[in-house]
Amino acid sequence: MKFVTLSNGIQMPILGYGVYQVTKEECERCVLDALSVGYRAIDTAQSYFNEAEVGSAIKKSGIPREEIFLTTKVWIEHYGYEKTKASVLESLRKLQTDYLDLCLLHQPFSDYYGSWRALEDLYEEGKIKAIGISNFYPDRMVDIASFARIRPMVNQVETHPLNQQILAKQYMDKYHVQIEAWAPFGEGRGGLFNNPLLLEIGAKYGKTTAQVMLRWHIQRGVVVIPKSTHKERMIENLNVFDFALSDEDMNKIATLDTNTSSFFSHSDPAMVEWFVKMVEERKKLS
Ligand SMILES: NC(=O)c1ccc[n+]([C@@H]2O[C@H](COP(=O)([O-])OP(=O)(O)OC[C@H]3O[C@@H](n4cnc5c(N)ncnc54)[C@H](OP(=O)(O)O)[C@@H]3O)[C@@H](O)[C@H]2O)c1
Repeated sequence: MKFVTLSNGIQMPILGYGVYQVTKEECERCVLDALSVGYRAIDTAQSYFNEAEVGSAIKKSGIPREEIFLTTKVWIEHYGYEKTKASVLESLRKLQTDYLDLCLLHQPFSDYYGSWRALEDLYEEGKIKAIGISNFYPDRMVDIASFARIRPMVNQVETHPLNQQILAKQYMDKYHVQIEAWAPFGEGRGGLFNNPLLLEIGAKYGKTTAQVMLRWHIQRGVVVIPKSTHKERMIENLNVFDFALSDEDMNKIATLDTNTSSFFSHSDPAMVEWFVKMVEERKKLS
């Protein structure tokens, strides 16, 4: 496994396993499969509702905790200093661990500065080894990187060949914030798994389009956390360290960028309202 070094010196695997949209029923089996084939980084979140299953899989695997890089994310309804602190302690309980390797603020909405101060304190108490943000577009990333007491070490954003985050990455590099791709395949949207250019490049190296995409991210220095519930695909997605794309092929993939989200924009006010509504509905249920 290749690692990146975060701004505080922590080593983070460049490739891990993400469990968004992995159901509670399947999650323990999936994480056990991922660990058994060699993944040593797991990305979950409070809002995925599967932290307990991730925790029990890690316990059952018998792999020493310190060999696994474990990430979770704080959800908006837990924003604000006190609520964030309490929610991270609850995440630790569900994950059956006494520390996190990385904890991210999941969205750039609501009282994220209050939440950030809670993460800063938990970091200094040693409960979190690295702290970061997610879905912070360049304006919000520069804001928090400039005004927070402790600068975020990671920013996890949608990144794949159709939305390459060129400008966002330039700013993250400038502020020493590690870029981490969510949806490294764009969840296959826009036909990415059957993209003719990626198929052509893959054929040259004897690799699948999924492997070409992951290798492209890694050569750009982007951390990836592909999700699959299929063990054979987990193996395929891990098998990307035995070849290197030429500069010419890297440049060809660069031409696929549309500089547009395949999902939605976090700076679209209608989407912000959608998040607000979701938080209100969840509050009613709890
Ligand atoms: N911070 C955020 O807001 C945020 C948002 C989204 C995601 N994430 C994180 O990023 C992780 C990855 O993103 P994602 O799950 O949205 O999308 P993704 O990893 O780009 O794509 C996952 C999809 O690709 C399929 N797939 C995986 N490997 C494949 C292969 N080798 N060949 C063909 N199909 C393959 C999977 O199907 P099968 O499962 O059926 O194999 C699944 O449908 C998430 O799990 C989560 O941890 C974070």
